[in-house]
Amino acid sequence: MADKKKLYIRTYGCQMNVYDSERMAEALGADGYAETDTPDDADMILLNTCHIREKAAEKVYSELGRFKGLKADNPELKIGVAGCVAQAEGEEIMRRQPMVDLVVGPQTYHRLPDMMEALAKGEKALDTDFPEEDKFEHLPKRPGARQGAKHRPAAFLTVQEGCDKFCAFCVVPYTRGAEVSRPPTRILSEARELVGRGVREITLLGQNVNAYHGEGGVTLAGLIWALNDIDGLERIRFTTSHPSDMADDLIEAFGTCAKLMPYLHLPVQSGSDRILKRMNRGHTGEEYLKLIERIRAARPDILISGDFITGFPEETDADFQDTMALIRAVGYGQAYSFKYSSRPGTPAAERTLVDPDVANARLQELQALISTQQRAAQDAMIGREVSVLFEKPGRFPGQMVGKSDHLHAVHVAAPELEPGDLKRVRITESGTNSLAAVVVD
Ligand code: SAH
Ligand code: SF4
Ligand code: F3S
Repeated sequence: MADKKKLYIRTYGCQMNVYDSERMAEALGADGYAETDTPDDADMILLNTCHIREKAAEKVYSELGRFKGLKADNPELKIGVAGCVAQAEGEEIMRRQPMVDLVVGPQTYHRLPDMMEALAKGEKALDTDFPEEDKFEHLPKRPGARQGAKHRPAAFLTVQEGCDKFCAFCVVPYTRGAEVSRPPTRILSEARELVGRGVREITLLGQNVNAYHGEGGVTLAGLIWALNDIDGLERIRFTTSHPSDMADDLIEAFGTCAKLMPYLHLPVQSGSDRILKRMNRGHTGEEYLKLIERIRAARPDILISGDFITGFPEETDADFQDTMALIRAVGYGQAYSFKYSSRPGTPAAERTLVDPDVANARLQELQALISTQQRAAQDAMIGREVSVLFEKPGRFPGQMVGKSDHLHAVHVAAPELEPGDLKRVRITESGTNSLAAVVVD
């Protein structure tokens, strides 16, 4: 058999990109490519990019710069840019980095095999359409599809694409297009296939995943209940949710669905009603707090995670203090926070910026509060028994690491464990970003 060509994919951005990279590897696998861990001897390098903040988008160009030497050594090397920067900047990428052969947006990578044919003829290829057809239904198939997920016990599964919310700061509705839900039957058959490969935990993905509405009126909760019936699947998670779409049946499922894990990522961005309105988030701080109360009533031990932006245009100190008050009221187990980054084409890009030093100082203050809360949530786990799905060996010999129900990283000294083992453990120590435990069964 002829040697396979080597494909190196580097993924930036959100979990949806991680999933897409697996699917692109699959599409190119049908074309004779096998994945490799290093760009050095690759025949094709693909960057799957993120446009969410300026820094993320600019990183693509510096990364491309680093591949110049490789291309000089091997003129046959193909270099591609996929994902949200590809969608947003299109041809501009080839203008700025002429060595780029391929630009493919997030909704057209099922056409990769055709584009590769053009590349083989020495042409360039660019496709940033929002096509009618569903990319997932048109991906080239080959034996062992979804092989990217093969060796991992936890997998992502995109159930919804795009976003219709148009938050004033955000590029996603432009880079990913309109919100579309995949058919439940397809999702369930993909989930069964994953479980057949040893996957025991599935995280359902969508930028606005709790607005999922599949054929026949299936809600996200309906989908979760259907997954709950799959033998061999032990854990279900979903991300990212929007506070305005937190339906009653979903909240209830946290209390009643055995496989749904006690963790919810529910970004709020700001605690100031004035800023929430300007962000076009569609809810107030008070409404968010009420929602958290109802979710905690359904599942008292749930760990809440969030996203925050500091320095959104015209944010005052008083607005920022409202955000800090909301954080204190919620008590986050985990959160991501960012300094506002002005994005071309978004409504907020037209507005007056906050002094970057002020935005930075607020970010530091917010992150200090979040890390205190995060540490408190971790410390509260000491002495408790939780289940852990082990994923890989740890840094030290004989150590295995995995994720708890609450998505804490947990390590144990237990050389007999294998990736994919799901064990009850007792937490013994809380470190900076992980917990130590002993296996109890
Ligand atoms: N769909 C999700 C998250 C999308 S992007 C949601 O609605 O929450 C992930 C996070 O990036 C956002 O929650 C937000 O906190 C941050 N983000 C998005 N655009 C940003 C921008 N222009 N500047 C800074 N942070 C941004
Ligand atoms: Fe962006 Fe808002 Fe959509 Fe999230 S809900 S992806 S922040 S527009
Ligand atoms: Fe980034 Fe696109 Fe995801 S902009 S956050 S990779 S949807």
